[in-house]
Amino acid sequence: MMNLFRTKSIEQIRANAEEPEHGGLKRTLTAWDLALLGVGAIIGAGILSALGTGLAGGFDSTYGVTRPAAGPALILSFLLVAVACGFTALCYAEFASMIPASGSAYTYTYATLGELMAWIIGWDLLLEYAVSNVAVAISWGSYMDNLLQGLGIHIPRWLSMDPRTMLFPTEGFAAAHQGALHFSDKLAYLAQARSGAIDGAATFINWDILKTAPMLGKFPVGVNVLAMVITFIITALCVWGVKESVKANNIMVSLKVLLLVLVIAIGAFYVKPANYHPFMPNGWRGVQAGAAIIFFAFIGFDAVSTTAEECKDPGRDMPRGIIGSLIICTIIYVGVCAVISGILPYHAYHGVADPIAHAFKAIGMNKISAIISVGAVVALGSALLVYQMAQPRIFMVMSRDGLLPPWFGKVSPRFRTPLNATLLTGLIVILPAGFMNIDEIIELTNIGTLFAFILVCLGILILRVRRPEAERKFKAPLVWLTAPLGVIFCIYLAYGLPRHTWIRFWIWLAVGLLAYFVYSAKHSKIGNEAPEA
Ligand code: ALA
Repeated sequence: MMNLFRTKSIEQIRANAEEPEHGGLKRTLTAWDLALLGVGAIIGAGILSALGTGLAGGFDSTYGVTRPAAGPALILSFLLVAVACGFTALCYAEFASMIPASGSAYTYTYATLGELMAWIIGWDLLLEYAVSNVAVAISWGSYMDNLLQGLGIHIPRWLSMDPRTMLFPTEGFAAAHQGALHFSDKLAYLAQARSGAIDGAATFINWDILKTAPMLGKFPVGVNVLAMVITFIITALCVWGVKESVKANNIMVSLKVLLLVLVIAIGAFYVKPANYHPFMPNGWRGVQAGAAIIFFAFIGFDAVSTTAEECKDPGRDMPRGIIGSLIICTIIYVGVCAVISGILPYHAYHGVADPIAHAFKAIGMNKISAIISVGAVVALGSALLVYQMAQPRIFMVMSRDGLLPPWFGKVSPRFRTPLNATLLTGLIVILPAGFMNIDEIIELTNIGTLFAFILVCLGILILRVRRPEAERKFKAPLVWLTAPLGVIFCIYLAYGLPRHTWIRFWIWLAVGLLAYFVYSAKHSKIGNEAPEA
């Protein structure tokens, strides 16, 4: 019988990490470096794009789902998510100090819950890294488009948006026409609007784009070309092998922080207190829905744990770095949210993918809006690069363990980068970047990441029971409270996600399980080393 719960021992993982090709890393990183690395991984499309959806909510007509707007109370959503992530962060810190190996949640799970769960997490991390990058690419496209417009360069609007977003009906129309829920109905309404039978502007949010889009039969043609172009460029850079340097990271992080501090400092003068009323337009339901989407803005602190091997004193610095990055980002996010929700009424951000630039443009500050767009384009470009490099490395670790074919781990002799895995990651990102709606992508990323967080919190408890004696340079305080609270908060956030996201997630897991039983279980290195009785 195949043992689905075979684990890789902590000692085995530590020994692997010390092998010449992975080991020998210099222990130079301090708590401060770690915090900056965390801030670099955290700040991205979440605050620059998902902020708008959190504030204004939205109606996703394809699925008949209303995301209740949090309104200015999105500030509470940010705090709620920060607390949830705080509990999980303590568990990540304990794991990182005990199993200092790259591979993060995948490696931790291999040591605790066993191979099948590790595989699921590896599969799931695809959602965190590659799929989240789709959102980052789309967000980059929006800010780039805004920037180009500011420079007087107008690309055809239908080349800047996917067809699904184009076909979003206005809230009023959707509320009055339950029939507007289905794609085929929307196509029928579009035909009527184009023939002048109904008012296009009252029907579709993006009517000005729809009316000029070329048609393929009944379908409007729309493609987010800018998002695809940036993915292509970043993939090429990853193949070529750009070096991720701490220095470059520090510059990028400073730029991101500066950008957001600037937003707070300037924006504060344009806040109209009247915009804070109503504070909670949809009560706690809005706060929960807002939290479920802006959770995306916090993803990335877990990436700090992958640098445990390069950390001077992981026991002391890892928790400081991880928690420190969370605190810095929470303060910045709350400030940005307070300002942006104070500049315009929350519903003015409906369907807006570049809310920060949008806010300043709407009050006539075009130059500031352009500066924000430049900053966002650079910041999002660097975020894209970091995650686009991380994903192929996860493929590599899994391929070393035999859970993926050796093809995934092949390093190109010419570029000295994991060529196959890098190109595959590029392909996984580029197609949805052109044709998917950003909110759907963010929700899918969130559910996958929340699942990984839950397993990390459970894993830490399992190891406390199974390996109480293992050396832990950092121990999560009050772990029997901290870890279960982490699980409960993550489940609560996942519960705030729409049904179609859950369905997609289960399908994703089912495909992953199939792949495990067809291939990975039979090729697993530890499975073959120690045949089961
Ligand atoms: N937290 C990252 C972002 O917001 C994923 O882009």
